Amino acid sequence: MLNMKYRLKRLTRSALVPLIYRYPPSVLAPERLYLFLHHLIQAKDVPGAVVEIGCNLGGTAIMARRMLDRLGVKKPYICIDTFDGFVDSQFAADVSRGSPSRDQNLFSGNSRDLVAKILRRHGCGDIQLIQGDVTVVPDAALPAQCSVVLLDVDLTEPTYVSLQRFWPRLAPGGVILVDDCQENASWKAQIGYSRFCRENHLPERYLHGMGLLARAERKAEAA
Ligand SMILES: C[S@@+](CC[C@H](N)C(=O)[O-])C[C@H]1O[C@@H](n2cnc3c(N)ncnc32)[C@H](O)[C@@H]1O
Repeated sequence: MLNMKYRLKRLTRSALVPLIYRYPPSVLAPERLYLFLHHLIQAKDVPGAVVEIGCNLGGTAIMARRMLDRLGVKKPYICIDTFDGFVDSQFAADVSRGSPSRDQNLFSGNSRDLVAKILRRHGCGDIQLIQGDVTVVPDAALPAQCSVVLLDVDLTEPTYVSLQRFWPRLAPGGVILVDDCQENASWKAQIGYSRFCRENHLPERYLHGMGLLARAERKAEAA
């Protein structure tokens, strides 16, 4: 029954893309969208792909891609998502940490095809989509080097594992921004961010409810 409901939701949305998604459907809070775009500009000369882990319908990706195009920044933009919401076991683990169970299907009922259609509708068909649970997507499918990573999967485990997988890929001068790290958030991403920082002796830094991890730029070679 639930499956039928999401299939119907998917079909309706797909048929009505030009109408429902005529504006980029971003769910990132404005001050965090600002912060992400700001860091994209700051890191425009840092080599490596821009990666958005947890892209939902692609609204933030569209705005970021368009901005980079307008600034002449040529980098791959890669989105990773299940395109069908949370992984059950990862969500259940955060319910036991206090997240409300009613949010389980908040991002269910999307599909890779639907997101690709929305991206094309906004002239961003060159954004690469990788479908899967970010904790188990094969290494070979991930970019070797990243300049900016927006990590927006809400939950403790995929946040923590994504940091383990992407921190080593971050170029000098690059930055990772983790959404939903504000105090008393119902989402538990901050627990994963904080654990990763502690274990790797990295400073925890918070701005506008995001956790930040920056890799220092390489010092110029001594003459
Ligand atoms: C808050 S939404 C992302 C919003 C998007 N960044 C934006 O700005 O519009 C969270 C997304 O994370 C995805 N997600 C959650 N757990 C995931 C996992 N383990 N692997 C891949 N994607 C996941 C969900 O499918 C959902 O689309």
